[in-house]
Amino acid sequence: MNERSDNTNSLRIGETTITLVEGDITTQDVDAIVNAANSGLIGGGGVDGAIHRAAGPTLKDACQIIVEREGRLPAGQAVMTDGGRLSARVIHTVGPRYRGRPMDRDTLASCYRNCLCLARDASLRRVAFPSISTGAYRYPIEEAAPIAMKTVAHFLGQPTEHQLAEVRFVLFDHRTFLAYQQAMERIRP
Ligand code: APR
Repeated sequence: MNERSDNTNSLRIGETTITLVEGDITTQDVDAIVNAANSGLIGGGGVDGAIHRAAGPTLKDACQIIVEREGRLPAGQAVMTDGGRLSARVIHTVGPRYRGRPMDRDTLASCYRNCLCLARDASLRRVAFPSISTGAYRYPIEEAAPIAMKTVAHFLGQPTEHQLAEVRFVLFDHRTFLAYQQAMERIRP
């Protein structure tokens, strides 16, 4: 891994910069935003609700077509749609509902990996993640942030033809932001 630190809210891994911002994912100027969805892709509260509101009804239609064609989206998997009124595309993933089982960790890591695979395969440059599973699905932030950070860093450390330029974590509240900042400090060389 070729890593270089810029400041406390960013970390360079190879060609890609991981950045941390506190804010609303629906207003980010990126190529794709990740939605912490449910298996039915029917919309909901939290970041899912915010993304569906900002995107408009065509996002729900696109989700419905996917579920009719492929069935419900299992936890840990990801699919991509257009973003309706949003300029970014939307990558929908379903995080684990936290129950403290070892497999919760694997499922959460799969979410990040599968979203990054979709972004890379579509040759996207910039992708933004919310803090998956740490709201309604109740994953403790102190456990979830290091899993998210390590999984993304590990993915970006693998050799590949297409490198993302930026992976941005968009954290909605200050406590979540601080947890990701701490997780970033722990992996900083
Ligand atoms: N931008 C960024 N992050 C946001 C936003 C937003 N606009 N709104 C909420 N968040 C944050 C929450 O504060 C939390 O830190 O996203 C994180 C994830 O919380 P949830 O949205 O509740 O997602 P999750 O825990 O994965 O639960 C998914 O919630 O709404 C339903 O349909 C969704 O059933 C699914 C479940």
